[in-house]
Amino acid sequence: MTPYGMASQSQVKSQQLWWQSGIIYQIYPRSFQDSNADGIGDLQGVINRLDYLKWLGIQAVWLSPIYPSPMADYGYDISDYQGIHPIFGSMDDFDQLLEEVHRRGMKLILDLVPNHTSDQHPWFLESKSSRDNPKRDWYIWKDALPDGSEPNNWLAMFGGTAWEWDETTQQYYYHAFLKEQPDLNWRNPEVREAMMNVMHYWLKKGIDGFRVDVMWHMVKDAHFRNNPINPDYQPHQATVDQLLAVYSTDQPEVHDIVRQMREVLDAYEERMMIGEIYLPVHKLVTYYGENGSGAHLPFNFQLLNLPWNATQLAAAISQYEGALPEYGWPNWVLGNHDQPRITSRVGLQQARVAALLLLTLRGTPTIYYGDEIGMQDVPIPFSEVQDPQGLNMPDKNLSRDPARTPMQWNASTYAGFSSEKPWLRLSSTYRRLNVESEKDNPFSMLTLYKRLIDLRQKELSFTAGDYIPVYSDQQILAYKRTHENAPAFLIVLNLTHRPAYFKPEHDAFKGTIVLSTLPEEEGQEVDSYFALSGDQGIIIRLH
Ligand code: GLC
Repeated sequence: MTPYGMASQSQVKSQQLWWQSGIIYQIYPRSFQDSNADGIGDLQGVINRLDYLKWLGIQAVWLSPIYPSPMADYGYDISDYQGIHPIFGSMDDFDQLLEEVHRRGMKLILDLVPNHTSDQHPWFLESKSSRDNPKRDWYIWKDALPDGSEPNNWLAMFGGTAWEWDETTQQYYYHAFLKEQPDLNWRNPEVREAMMNVMHYWLKKGIDGFRVDVMWHMVKDAHFRNNPINPDYQPHQATVDQLLAVYSTDQPEVHDIVRQMREVLDAYEERMMIGEIYLPVHKLVTYYGENGSGAHLPFNFQLLNLPWNATQLAAAISQYEGALPEYGWPNWVLGNHDQPRITSRVGLQQARVAALLLLTLRGTPTIYYGDEIGMQDVPIPFSEVQDPQGLNMPDKNLSRDPARTPMQWNASTYAGFSSEKPWLRLSSTYRRLNVESEKDNPFSMLTLYKRLIDLRQKELSFTAGDYIPVYSDQQILAYKRTHENAPAFLIVLNLTHRPAYFKPEHDAFKGTIVLSTLPEEEGQEVDSYFALSGDQGIIIRLH
């Protein structure tokens, strides 16, 4: 019985918002669809492909940055927060895109990059023009140490020191990423106001939310203390990992800023904020903010980082579920433009199992463009590498280009992405791995995704139900999804290539396989004991 005055869990859950019940799809605009034959994707291209996204069943599109930018970091170095880069189109194209997205009942999420600007942004040009420029304090300027060296030992994400010397004004400025991406000083109230105005500008236009870039970087230690040495550093890692980012990231004051951003969003109806945050779970969940006054979805990257091992994943899922505050809605990410694709981390067959996992866990899934057709990391020859992370640390194989190659739409020259040579080379397998050829193939990755999405979106147990861990061992991960007003499901995943045997000791059940990575097995009745093929995942509707 529900105590008087308290809504039952499922009553609360039936009032879900779009970003809770729907699926988010990340588009890397350079690589989705070219419409003007320059080999680079653009907004009209995205518009042309919206029907595909609608067909796939996704709720919201998140676009990586489309703003004016010198493209030192492919758009994450912004020189005008309120414009559109001509490569991608015009503001009219943007308005049209927003309208077309909404006309289809979908939502549009933009990338907001508040931690740093481009070094060509007028704010920075002013800031570096003289020490007494009114915008000097908008960025992080420090004197050299007496011996002329950098103010502290902090390192940049893309290699080398995080401090760049400015000859004109004889000070260093801080950049967590490239020297072309100076960090803003978020302790300065004018900076806050300026960025909140940027948010208002896009929200007034009607966008539905922001994905906030490197949210945990926004505030630095007030005393700029040296970061400690990382005792576990391995030479293959990025040089930035030589230190633990104790003082350069995740400072307590950041939550105040996130709350302010949230207040901006809350002035509009049903807008949302995702935070890009690479931190351990106990720290990640603090970004929901006190009583949920922070990010709606602090991105949960565990599936990107953890070894592909059933017991470890089971433990991590439970840890995450346990760490979530009661007001915190979960979310799961399997790929993005900064990480190797799932197919290249766990293999094509296991990527099918991963799809089952992503789309049956509790919380909002984010799909990275192309993962739904099983796109793989494309080997980019050294001479063609574009990503600064790859170029700056050439011996470490850290280029993000392989996961950013053009979307494979069909088997025509340039895969239907463009009529001209694309900015980044296509996968040599695009003629067989593409949307058109996979659409009607019952065994393709795309069909698997489409069917999983259909099932997920129609069953309350998946969109709004509870997560109940059932079993895990060296091979198998099994859990239930239940909702008091809907059928319950048992999901059993074999995370290895060898056959595995599922025999939960205390949990007798009966059910029907409604979806399997091996579609041949669908419709079968199963109970209490069964064998799984290697790389098999199944969804059982329980009787
Ligand atoms: C984020 C983006 C990444 C970018 C970096 C700097 O991590 O996802 O692509 O390089 O921020 O803006």
